[in-house]
Amino acid sequence: MTDLTGTSAIVTGASSGIGEATAHRLAQDGVSVALAARREERLNALRDDIDAEGGTAIVCPTDVTDRDQVQALADATLDAFGSIDILVNNAGIMPLSLMENLHEGEWEQMVDVNVKGVLHAVGAVLPAMMEQEQGHIVNISSVAGRRTFPGSAVYSGTKFFVRALSERMRNELAPSHNIRVTSIEPGAVDTELPNTITDEDILAGMGDMQDEMQMMESADIADTIHYALTAPEHVDVEELLVMPTDQQG
Ligand SMILES: NC(=O)c1ccc[n+]([C@@H]2O[C@H](COP(=O)([O-])OP(=O)(O)OC[C@H]3O[C@@H](n4cnc5c(N)ncnc54)[C@H](OP(=O)(O)O)[C@@H]3O)[C@@H](O)[C@H]2O)c1
Repeated sequence: MTDLTGTSAIVTGASSGIGEATAHRLAQDGVSVALAARREERLNALRDDIDAEGGTAIVCPTDVTDRDQVQALADATLDAFGSIDILVNNAGIMPLSLMENLHEGEWEQMVDVNVKGVLHAVGAVLPAMMEQEQGHIVNISSVAGRRTFPGSAVYSGTKFFVRALSERMRNELAPSHNIRVTSIEPGAVDTELPNTITDEDILAGMGDMQDEMQMMESADIADTIHYALTAPEHVDVEELLVMPTDQQG
């Protein structure tokens, strides 16, 4: 098992949900964590919690759609910790909508955050990881990166992208640069993610899922990420699909 103590990580989307839980978990594992998202107050509160628990974290307010801000995040991480050993490429939005309702602005936002944001982070950390001749990039895809459901056309498109990107990245980067790559594909997790949905047709059917099943908690996905990161160095967990026991699909 790989010991994470003394390593460093960037977690994007650390201000809530899966990113916040993962940052906590990594800090408990002895990882120094750079916390990235737009809501600075949330990041400050998380840093204070991690400090109080004896961990190490820095706050890096970042909009992942801006390549310069993501480069500044990588630079700040290197300055603070001297390396970037782990990237948890997690920031994402999910404004589901039916195609016939033409939420074109939201289609574009999803491409900007879920596709371009993920690429900005990969591009920002790869030079350091290649120089170090080691690293681990965990990209957060989704069950929606394997299957589509009503309203998920564009969101699924972005998450299929993340899965395809991860597969090729692993093939190109693991054997030649010792950079492991993992795609995590969660089913329903109880987070703020649905808050970005504005489509009335989707919102009308939303209540049902929470009543019908026990969703996963963010900590369940943090545990999954921990599993992939702590696999022995000769093992690259390429992808993990993790579903609530009760969820169909
Ligand atoms: N919840 C689920 O059921 C589920 C299932 C499968 C996959 N996922 C994926 O898991 C990831 C995390 O989502 P979550 O469920 O934890 O939802 P969440 O609580 O809404 O977290 C999303 C995170 O992304 C950040 N973010 C959004 N836009 C950003 C931007 N432009 N720049 C920087 N950060 C940005 C948000 O921070 P700020 O708003 O502060 O910037 C927030 O920290 C997403 O990629 C999502 O697609 C979630």
